[in-house]
Amino acid sequence: MKLLVLLGPNLNMVGIREKSIYGIENANTINEAIKTYAKSAGFECDIFQSNHEGDLIDKIHSSLGVYDGIVLNAGALTHYSYALRDAIASVEAVPTIEVHMSNVHKREEFRHKSVISPVCSGVICGFGKDSYRLAIEALKGLI
Ligand code: DQA
Repeated sequence: MKLLVLLGPNLNMVGIREKSIYGIENANTINEAIKTYAKSAGFECDIFQSNHEGDLIDKIHSSLGVYDGIVLNAGALTHYSYALRDAIASVEAVPTIEVHMSNVHKREEFRHKSVISPVCSGVICGFGKDSYRLAIEALKGLI
């Protein structure tokens, strides 16, 4: 089974940005933990981070026939990117789990709305880096 973990804008800055929200662990060690967990769950895992909406969209399109599922933390694009939403909807055969490290519902009102949730298989938020592990677990149950 092949898994794509897709990370959107500013997620390369975890460990540096807003530490009280995202914690002090940096993106590299979080990615290592994701890879280790994915392997133990039986997935070959690629992680792709970009600060550019179009790059994320291209990656979603090219996941068709390559990956069995996507774990997606779209960062702020979650809240307004109809283009990302349409990209997810265009690869229906690849189940996508929406992930957030923070509990977006406890935060500013603009974060309460996700335009991608309706085209994702499910949503996990609020568990820090563990949100990724829980999403991989959930994906395993879907495939
Ligand atoms: C985030 C939540 C988003 O609202 C925010 O823009 C992010 C990170 C999270 O992982 O909690 O960049 O997706």
